[in-house]
Parts: sequence; C-alpha cells; structure tokens
Amino acid sequence: MNQRRPLQRRPLARRVLAVAVSAATVAVSLPAVSAAPAGCDPAVPDTCTLRELADRLGIRIGAAHGPDELAIPSNADTLAREFNSLTPDNAMKMYATQPTQGAWDWAVADETVEFAVAHGMEVRGHTLVWAQDTYTPQWVLDITDPAEMRAVLDEHITTTIARYKDRVHRWDVINEPLDYTNIDGGLSDNVFSRVLGPGWMAEVFAMAHAADPTAELWVNEWGTDYLPGRHDALVALVGSLRDAGVPVHGVGIQTHRFFGGPDGPDEGAFEQMLRDYTDLGVDVAITELDIPIDPADPDGLTRQADAYRRIVSACVRVERCREITTWGITDAFTWLDSFVVPVLGPLPTPTRPLLFDENGQPKPAYFAVRDVLAAASRPASLQTTTTAPDRAVVPAVAVATNPRFTG
Ligand code: G3I
Repeated sequence: MNQRRPLQRRPLARRVLAVAVSAATVAVSLPAVSAAPAGCDPAVPDTCTLRELADRLGIRIGAAHGPDELAIPSNADTLAREFNSLTPDNAMKMYATQPTQGAWDWAVADETVEFAVAHGMEVRGHTLVWAQDTYTPQWVLDITDPAEMRAVLDEHITTTIARYKDRVHRWDVINEPLDYTNIDGGLSDNVFSRVLGPGWMAEVFAMAHAADPTAELWVNEWGTDYLPGRHDALVALVGSLRDAGVPVHGVGIQTHRFFGGPDGPDEGAFEQMLRDYTDLGVDVAITELDIPIDPADPDGLTRQADAYRRIVSACVRVERCREITTWGITDAFTWLDSFVVPVLGPLPTPTRPLLFDENGQPKPAYFAVRDVLAAASRPASLQTTTTAPDRAVVPAVAVATNPRFTG
C-alpha cells in the first residue's frame, strides 16, 4: 500500500539505540525477557498469555515490529511473552536488503530472526517481491530486459530464502499484487508485469518454490476485507494461479481497518470472506491487523475491542485460518499515525490501533482477543505452530491461465 507521508522521526536516543542494535550483525545482543506465567488454564483466561492460548489452538499469534521496538526491553518482553510469531515490518523488503544491486544488508532482518529463534518463535518472511513500483528499488525499476529481470529476481529470491531457510518457513512471496488505484480490483501495473508479462507472478512463485520446496508461499493483500471488488479480484487471481499449478499455499488478508475502523466488519461476512480463500485449497491468515479509533470517541476502546473480537472469532472458526498478526506491538509505534488515507486524508491521531497502549499496557482489545482464544477449540491435528507443514512438491508453471488476467 502506498504510504505517501514519511513516518515521524523517532526521538534521538531511540534512533541511536536502534542504530547500535542494527550494527550488531554477528553477535546480536538479545534483550532479556521475563517468563510467561506458569499454569495457563483457559477456563481462567487471566492465567494465560495470548501465546499460550494460541499455541494450544495451533494458531500463530504474531506482531510486526521495527528495529526501534525490538530495542525497547518492555516491547521485547511483550513480544516473547505474548506472541509466537514475528513479522519484520520493513527489514526483509527488497529496498532494505538489496537497496543497490549486490549491496546486501541483512543487519536488521538478522535481528528479527535471531530474536525469534532465541524465544522459540516463528518468522513470517515479508516480503520477497512488492508488486508496487513505489517500494521497488530504482535499480530494479531501471531494468527493461526480461532475461535480466528474471536473473535479478531469481538471485534476490534464492539468496534471501537460502539465508533463512532453516529458520523461516513461510514467505509473503508477493505483496499487494492488486491495482492500488482501482478499488474494483484488477492487477497492479508494475515493473515486473511490464517487463515479464502476465505470467510474472507464476514465475516468481516458481523461483521461491525452487529455493525451498517445503516453505509455505503466500500472497498478501490489503483492502480485500472491505472492498468487494478487491476481494473478488484476489479470489480470481489465487484461483487462477492454483488452477495453473502455481505453488501458492496461503493468502494473507492484511486487515488494516482504516476504512470503517471499529464499526466493521460483520463477523459472519468476515468469516465467509476467509472461507472464499480456503475453498480454493489454500490457508488464510490475518497478517497486518490494526483498528484505528477516533480520539474524540468516548467509546472508541470498547468498539475497537468488539471489532477485534469479531475478527479473531471468525478466524478461529475457520480451520485453515492459521495466523493473526497485528501490525505493531504498542500504540506508541504505528504507521497509521502518519498514514494519509486515500480520498479521506490523514486519520485523527493518535490512532491507537493495537492491543497494547502507548505504555505497553494491555487494552480492552487485548482482553477481547485473549477471551476469544481462551474459549475456542480446534482439532488436535492443528496444534503445532513451530514447524512448517510438509508440502508436496507442486510443479510450477510459467503462466497463469485465467483470461481475466492474461487476456
Ligand atoms: O528509514 C528512513 C529514515 O532514514 C527516514 O529518515 C524516514 C523519514 O522519511 O524514513 C524512513 O523510512 C521509512 C520506513 O518506513 C522506516 O521507518 C519510509 O519513509 C516509510 O515509507 C516506511 O514505511 C513502511 C511502509 O510499509 C513502506 O515500506 C512502514 O513502516 C510499514 O509499516 C509499511 O508496512 C506495509 C506492509 O509492508 C505491507 N502492507 C501495508 C503496510 C502499511 O503500509
């Protein structure tokens, strides 16, 4: 999603700390974290962390984080205690790991992976390719020769997956393949589609699959949970890729609720929306959940909690809904405070969209999510969150066949 305003600058001390942490490429100094409470009893939710409850259900409960946040001890503590999955917000993006050709920078991404391993957590690799030119490095935007583009993509994907192959088992292979400017759907126009043609996504998935045939390979998109045209377009895209034998294993529904906020979604409609993907034979996940509130709304926190409750309730009812990740940890760090919503403009700030407040304390939304997880049950076969599932080696083909996208 295009974010046209830069994030606000962090206080100097925090930036210095972040830089110091970023510099530790080999010997990463991991923040100490406190132990989870002993003896989680779901019948008494107060005795449980989100992580304990999610482990029991076989659901990944995750948070995205930036390097500034990981460097704050209380945030590191919250992450390790409450979540079993991490998503680096920007550190694994192409513009971060390979800003110029061959100039790899793994420092911040390594921190995430080291932290996750040290605390028995999974990592969602985000993202191998972002299908929006705004976030593609200039040196890639300059490529016009298909053979060169294939070579560059293959090297980028293979190198990234190889570095983390033993520790990262699921990847957002393509982020935001839909047209950002068209709420009715359609595919994005981007340098990869322009140079390689409509089969570019199948090619990229084939590269990722070849790099790690056991990894879960995902496509990730925004706005499909409340814009029907985008939902239909994503269902059609994933269906066409699957029909063509492309190894797509999951669909990430970002679920940034900046349209509608705590007034949405309808729980049943949200559940059906998730099932539209699982009916295609893929997993589904809520990958970037945040629900902003209006600071002028006296009931904002309560309404926000109810929206979180509806979304999480829908996910736990759908067996192949495998993950609920919030796009941030505490309200002190949220991209929404500087986001300009298309057409609407900036949101009223502070948006306070997450589970923990600006001081790191759990909010009503936290307790709503916890109580849903505590009351839920799922088949025992799902009760593992730490190993990638065995995946059949699916032959990849080069071209998606749905005429909607190839005609
Ligand atoms: O690192 C520079 C810093 O040096 C500079 O001073 C500062 C001011 O311009 O910018 C910093 O870079 C910013 C970067 O975040 C790190 O903070 C970029 O401007 C800013 O565009 C970038 O925004 C990120 C955005 O993706 C683009 O990569 C957001 O933090 C991140 O939350 C957002 O995440 C995306 C998901 O990947 C995909 N789904 C939507 C989601 C929200 O837009």
